Amino acid sequence: MIRSHVLVCGGAGCLSSGCHAVQETLASELKKHGLDSEVQMIVTGCMGPCDLGPVILIHPDGTFYQRVTALDVPALVEEHFVKGRPYKKLLPKDEVGDNVFNTVRDFAFLAKQTKIILENCGLIDAENIDEYIARDGYAALGKVLTEMTPEQVIAEIKASGLRGRGGAGFPTGVKWELMRRSPDAPKYIICNADEGDPGAFMNRAVLEGDPHRVMEGMAIGAYAMGANRGFIYIRAEYPLAIKRLQIAIDQAYKNGLLGNNLFEKGFNFGLELRIGAGAFVCGEETALMRSIEGRRGQPQPRPPFPAQRGLWGKPSNINNVETWAAVPVIIRNGAGWYNKIGTEKTKGTKVFALAGKIKNTGLAEVPFGTPLRDIIFEIGGGVPDGKQFKAVQTGGPSGGVIPGQHLDTPVEYETLQKLGSIMGSGGMVVMDEDSCMVGVARFFLEFCCDESCGKCPPCRVGTKQMLNLLDKISHGYGTLADLDKLEQLCTIVRDASLCGLGQTAPNPVLTTLRYFRHEYEQHIREHRCVAGECTALQLSPCENTCPLNMNIPGFLQLLKEGRLDDAFEQVVMDNPLPSTTGRICQHPCEIRCRRAGMDASVNMRETHRYIGDVAYQSHVAKKVLKRILKRKKHATGRKVAVIGAGPSGLSAAFYLALLGHKVTVYESAPDAGGMLRYALPQYRLPKNVVAKEISFIRSVGVQFKFNAVLGKTLKLDKLAHDNDAVFLAIGTWEETALGIPGEDAEGLYTSLEFLSAIAHDKKPRLGEKVAVIGGGNSAIDAARSAMRMGADVTIVYRRSREAMPAIPDETEQALEEGAHLITMVAPVRVVIGKGGQVTGLEVAKTVPGKFDSRGRRTPVVTKETRIIPCDMVIKAIGERPDSQITKALGLETTQWKTIKVDPWTLQTSNPKVYAGGDYTSGSANVATAMCSGKKAAKTIDRALTGQDRFEELWPKFEYDWTVPPSGQGGGRNPARLLPVEKRKGTWIDVSPTFTEWQAKAECLRCLRCDIKTGTDGKSR
Ligand SMILES: Cc1cc2nc3c(=O)[nH]c(=O)nc-3n(C[C@H](O)[C@H](O)[C@H](O)COP(=O)(O)OP(=O)(O)OC[C@H]3O[C@@H](n4cnc5c(N)ncnc54)[C@H](O)[C@@H]3O)c2cc1C
Ligand SMILES: Cc1cc2nc3c(=O)[nH]c(=O)nc-3n(C[C@H](O)[C@H](O)[C@H](O)COP(=O)(O)O)c2cc1C
Ligand code: SF4
Ligand code: SF4
Ligand code: FES
Repeated sequence: MIRSHVLVCGGAGCLSSGCHAVQETLASELKKHGLDSEVQMIVTGCMGPCDLGPVILIHPDGTFYQRVTALDVPALVEEHFVKGRPYKKLLPKDEVGDNVFNTVRDFAFLAKQTKIILENCGLIDAENIDEYIARDGYAALGKVLTEMTPEQVIAEIKASGLRGRGGAGFPTGVKWELMRRSPDAPKYIICNADEGDPGAFMNRAVLEGDPHRVMEGMAIGAYAMGANRGFIYIRAEYPLAIKRLQIAIDQAYKNGLLGNNLFEKGFNFGLELRIGAGAFVCGEETALMRSIEGRRGQPQPRPPFPAQRGLWGKPSNINNVETWAAVPVIIRNGAGWYNKIGTEKTKGTKVFALAGKIKNTGLAEVPFGTPLRDIIFEIGGGVPDGKQFKAVQTGGPSGGVIPGQHLDTPVEYETLQKLGSIMGSGGMVVMDEDSCMVGVARFFLEFCCDESCGKCPPCRVGTKQMLNLLDKISHGYGTLADLDKLEQLCTIVRDASLCGLGQTAPNPVLTTLRYFRHEYEQHIREHRCVAGECTALQLSPCENTCPLNMNIPGFLQLLKEGRLDDAFEQVVMDNPLPSTTGRICQHPCEIRCRRAGMDASVNMRETHRYIGDVAYQSHVAKKVLKRILKRKKHATGRKVAVIGAGPSGLSAAFYLALLGHKVTVYESAPDAGGMLRYALPQYRLPKNVVAKEISFIRSVGVQFKFNAVLGKTLKLDKLAHDNDAVFLAIGTWEETALGIPGEDAEGLYTSLEFLSAIAHDKKPRLGEKVAVIGGGNSAIDAARSAMRMGADVTIVYRRSREAMPAIPDETEQALEEGAHLITMVAPVRVVIGKGGQVTGLEVAKTVPGKFDSRGRRTPVVTKETRIIPCDMVIKAIGERPDSQITKALGLETTQWKTIKVDPWTLQTSNPKVYAGGDYTSGSANVATAMCSGKKAAKTIDRALTGQDRFEELWPKFEYDWTVPPSGQGGGRNPARLLPVEKRKGTWIDVSPTFTEWQAKAECLRCLRCDIKTGTDGKSR
């Protein structure tokens, strides 16, 4: 008596990950335990989540095991079948990795699908016709042959609303009717199983997992259309599908389900396989038919359509695998059942192949109309490694990319077309922030260009020309005129090509231009590929990711060679605040460091901090200053006013002064530094560090005027009149409101008020218990400062800890120092006691809601509340630009009421006035703010002098240009940190500078990615 079935996936994906060995060990282990008579193993087709393979599904309990190896099997059998409990190690886990899914019903990837086409895949043994018959297989064929006329069958398919799944979505019933009406004979029917889209494998999965389903559909179609011979055209790269199809065909002949006089109704139908060599164009129906005829696979003009003149000049009907597979279920359950699934225009389900930067790669079947967001995030699990979703490419190589703002689009033929993409055969390639859209367009276009059959010039020549232009752009030689040419070529190729290949090949280019034009422009105008894919445009991955484009391998090499002064000169020219950023930068430079692939990324931040700190403590800074001043440009006689002495204004002022302009920085505070001086706490960023760096900037000729307030003592019109250019960098000093009762209670702080009071040496009033609301750097700084003032601190944040925007090490240190952290709660009320005093903060539990366009789950506030007792609340939920000042400036603003600037020049609607830093971007970070200051200096100088002189400020150093031996320098040196006991109560720098030995070890660890074959890296 069988008590349980173990379904072992035998699809191509699982085969390649080793399911054979799993099957063999499972069989022997079951036997060893005497279980082989009660537990039956069945090898099935693909279950869907191929990335997790080899996979096993156990019935009836529904336990699903992933990544099973032969070594795991003995323990799995022992636990699951002998001891009767799940073998936890191999159960799928949820996003955060804490909870396991005990049954397949909890595993969203499978549970949220609607399996109609794939209903037998992963369930039955594809090589056993009895299993198909046991699942009502061939019942539909029996029904049509015994109960229905061909016309009734066609009417049923028409009524079902079935549309072809090969890409165009043509109504299947209509196509069948045209063929039936065609007077000539004999007639042929064809299954298009060419599936040439890279990354698509839904047809293969159906043929490997449920081949009879397709054959039954074809037999029904043959009967309806009056054909007696059919072909399945399948590519040679699908050996398993070919094998299983051949077995299925042989079994069907043997069982009287193919051949003559089927169901003794006088209907004859024979089916043969035809193997294709794998050319993409052979998936096009007319090319495919020529290929079956043994000729070169090239498309033919239509009309005549295949239904009139197809294979060997006879009426033929061609449908996709999925289209045929839908037929038996429609006949069995009725058109009325089927056409309730899907949308008004498109009925039924569609199988998608999820690939690219997505957690769950594999097959997903969903009703038409399902939003892209649900497919990618709910089923696909979203983007892995905490990266942001950028776009999804649908429809294979000639599909288009769809950005985050369209994630709510319900998927069907027309909606995708509207967005510039296509359904194609159902490929979905997800891209994250590391994907360059020029590169994406180039990749897919290259595929179509290579696969063009060459018959028609628009496709053959046009795609090649387009590819040349994309190459030019990705190498940094493109011009804005090239974008116009590219668009023109797209239109010509689309409109003039003979077949679908050429007609759709421009889609990736057109959609990337439509949604990501700024990326093309960035490649052209700034010679920059932010995603880091176009290697010709970058010195090294780290340099490319650093917002300041610091020549990181350069300064590491100079320090390695013992040339501290040269290293400092390189560093300070790239980044005029190296010691400051070396302490507080979020160090995005490390994300793509190639050394991470070996052990851990190079600690670049601490190394340039070391260079800065040592240079300022010695004679080096002065020596380098003299060298820099030698390169300073002669006075231009032009005057520039910089408003705001934060990192953005300081950077702009530094370069503008070196370019020979007379620069005055106007600042409302009594000292320079902006948030670095008046928000960031001492223990993390000592004031003397900021002061030394500002003094260096002053030494290149920058003048400061303090206590000068724009909107009060300063008027923009006057500044613009008295100067040749004005750069506005006044930051974001207005705290965002929470919108909850009690937030305006007397004595409550915003983090900026609290931190800047400390920075001004005013002692802010603080209770014993403090609740800090927020999860960013500002919240953590407020919390750690409050603790240093003796308070017991609880930080409350509405998302998970992983989603906190604060630098993770800072959060970690805050917790070590004694802060309490409550995540997944949102504040709903500040509780005020009878005397008007704060007595608590009421928070409500949040649960992860829908994914937003960046791929983060939006927190949904529940009714479950609690009160956190406290006598002080600090709000740290984000800062924004001062709305009153912005309004008064009279400059054009954006829909978010921020100053509108040209993204390439930072010019505002007043051509003399430029703006940047947090003031235009919203609260960001120090390196990004400095980057815009640097950019403003470059564009202001160009506007004032009509020349490109910026790069001339840099020194050109000679240094060793040989690739270092791999793996030098040992493991990564983390930032130094005082032990928690020493750190807790102190305001002095809690993180000492690297030792010389540590800094040099990091230099040794660098792999020198700037060294590329054929370059000497000297020209930047
Ligand atoms: C608590 C806190 C912690 C942070 N931690 C980090 C971190 O760890 N890492 C990181 O990279 N970033 C961090 N940041 C963000 C970083 O400090 C800012 O992104 C950066 O300072 C922005 O630079 P900015 O020059 O654009 O603006 P600001 O630094 O805000 O400078 C603007 C300047 O303009 C002046 N100003 C404002 N209004 C006027 C006016 N009307 N007239 C004249 N002058 C005016 C201000 O006084 C100020 O000096 C933190 C921010 C805060 C608040
Ligand atoms: C270049 C090109 C490649 C194609 N590749 C396939 C394919 O691999 N599979 C497929 O079913 N249809 C493919 N098609 C579409 C077919 O020409 C045809 O429309 C389809 O097989 C009809 O079946 P349907 O009505 O069931 O969709 C391709 C079309 C073009 C232009
Ligand atoms: S190994 Fe060196 S050059 Fe390469 S990314 Fe890392 S720090 Fe940069
Ligand atoms: S400024 Fe920031 S991103 Fe650039 S090298 Fe330094 S730590 Fe890295
Ligand atoms: S091949 Fe096993 S899940 Fe797809």
